[in-house]
Amino acid sequence: MRLLLLFFTVVLGADESFITPQEYAAQLYHNPRGIGCHLCHGEHGEGKVIAHYIDKGEKKAFEGPPIRALDFRRFDAALNRRNTGMPKYFLTAPERKALYRYLHPETVKDAHAEK
Ligand code: HEC
Repeated sequence: MRLLLLFFTVVLGADESFITPQEYAAQLYHNPRGIGCHLCHGEHGEGKVIAHYIDKGEKKAFEGPPIRALDFRRFDAALNRRNTGMPKYFLTAPERKALYRYLHPETVKDAHAEK
């Protein structure tokens, strides 16, 4: 039994330390200590209609805008301010960078070399 516990500790512990930066970024995008970004901006930041509503007899859509083609400055700035219809997150600079990287995998040359 003790051996089995040791086995799980080693395997699970090892598993966690071998997560790639891309895997980490994907997890953060889906669970950024708050509502997942994908729920409003789509799985890959392509944008998403969240709800339809009627305003003064007119059908309107509440949408999360596409965020995959923004430059890093604009992306980062948006995560540091309050946006209408978007929760305020308290992300660190490395976390914001990881999220940006998740939406721009082409900027990651060697996922294993990067920290
Ligand atoms: C509840 C829905 C919702 C969630 C969840 C959400 N957003 Fe947003 N986001 C919005 C809306 C709506 C806007 C448009 C705000 C505006 O126009 O002022 C927006 C705007 C943005 C912008 C600015 C877009 C631009 O064109 O400048 C960025 C970047 C962004 N969100 C990133 C994120 C990231 C990253 C996450 C996850 C950490 C996230 N959002 C989670 C709804 C959401």
